[in-house]
Amino acid sequence: MSNRMWGGRFGSGPDDIMEEINASIGFDQRLFAQDIRGSLAHAEMLVAQGIISAEDGASISQGLTQILAEINAGEFTFSRALEDIHMNIEARLAELIGPTAGRLHTARSRNDQVATDFRLYVRDTLDHLAAQISTLMGVLVTKAEAHADTIMPGFTHLQPAQPVSFGHHILAYVEMLSRDHSRLMDARKRMNESPLGAAALAGTGFDIDRHATAQALGFDAPTGNSMDSVSARDFALEALSAAAICATHLSRLAEEIVVYTTPNFGFFTLPDAFSTGSSIMPQKRNPDAAELIRAKSGRIIGSLTGLFIVMKGLPLAYSKDMQEDKEGVFNALDSLSLCLAAMAGMMDTLGVDKTAMHQAASKGYSTATDLADWLVREAGLPFRDAHHATGALVAMAEDKACLLDELSLDDMQSVNASITQGIFDVLSVENSVKSRTSYGGTAPDNVRTMVAKWQAWLKATEAAQ
Ligand code: ARG
Repeated sequence: MSNRMWGGRFGSGPDDIMEEINASIGFDQRLFAQDIRGSLAHAEMLVAQGIISAEDGASISQGLTQILAEINAGEFTFSRALEDIHMNIEARLAELIGPTAGRLHTARSRNDQVATDFRLYVRDTLDHLAAQISTLMGVLVTKAEAHADTIMPGFTHLQPAQPVSFGHHILAYVEMLSRDHSRLMDARKRMNESPLGAAALAGTGFDIDRHATAQALGFDAPTGNSMDSVSARDFALEALSAAAICATHLSRLAEEIVVYTTPNFGFFTLPDAFSTGSSIMPQKRNPDAAELIRAKSGRIIGSLTGLFIVMKGLPLAYSKDMQEDKEGVFNALDSLSLCLAAMAGMMDTLGVDKTAMHQAASKGYSTATDLADWLVREAGLPFRDAHHATGALVAMAEDKACLLDELSLDDMQSVNASITQGIFDVLSVENSVKSRTSYGGTAPDNVRTMVAKWQAWLKATEAAQ
């Protein structure tokens, strides 16, 4: 049988392989709610403009509402022969209300229809992801508040560098996630225009009201150019790049969980609920969720790259290539949602070994910079000379296998005669951290100030959601 939607000039139906490569119903069925929303708004507008009768409009709306209920109840049979979600729904509408169903497609095309559905879907999903990001931020801010005074080594090159507050370390991720949140919201703002009514590519001669459908669907305005309307996918690229950046941040935190839960570090422990065992090594406790978050960033970045490659060579306006935009976006945004939920769960229940962290912070001469700064401040040395003298003291401590504050004053003075007892005040990790009071620095009081700032931000964001 030739296709009933466009089969007028076709003698026979498609080859089986043609049907298989052409069909998108296997994945675009998840756009059903957006598709029906779009059709309801379109039908209502057609009635208001006198393009179809009120009676036809009412039976179309009734039919669409029934189809929505059928799909929600799992009672709808999707058919590959009907290619995509748009034609599956329209065919069912025809079964329900007869030939009137054919009036719904007046002044629109699947090209503007799919562009509208997909924008609505991405917009809904961005809202959901943004809410998940603030939930994770809330978990991290609570952790940071509890650990403003917890000391850990701060690293550069993964070598102990300077002691920091663990709360400060956690708040670094809160900063990243707040930018992720703002990137999603920016993408949402830019994409929030309605392509509906652009029809196939050129617009339509029917007296439609695109402002009305835009408003009914929660868009800020209709898109300004019919060709751009059906061929633009930069909204999806933008959503994917925001997702890829967020996934990259989660992956870095995941990497830290993997590293810091090893017994070699022993800073973190994951509860049973977020650990897995080994089938052969009874002692193992593996951070699989963190590893999978780290890995899933790969597929999210891959989806972004994939869509760039699909889009980059396409002439205006619609090409069927664009049907390939959906699976990558669905997969990437689903994955990010799962990663955000798993990360919130892990970070909420993460155990923190303060003693191990403190010990590690004291090792590795992490207060050497404080010693050098003291020589600049109190003994008037140029920083380069102070750096040199401190290097000699570190070498001496290494020789004696002791910490910097375990050297005697005599030892210190043998390197620089102007050193006094006061130097020992800056050699403890606590004092080192407390002294970093510059704006954005790690001093626990700074951490508490930032925690309060983020708590206020979260409250305002939640209220706006
Ligand atoms: N399933 C198609 C897609 O996802 C819908 C648009 C089809 N348009 C067309 N001219 N064949 O892109």
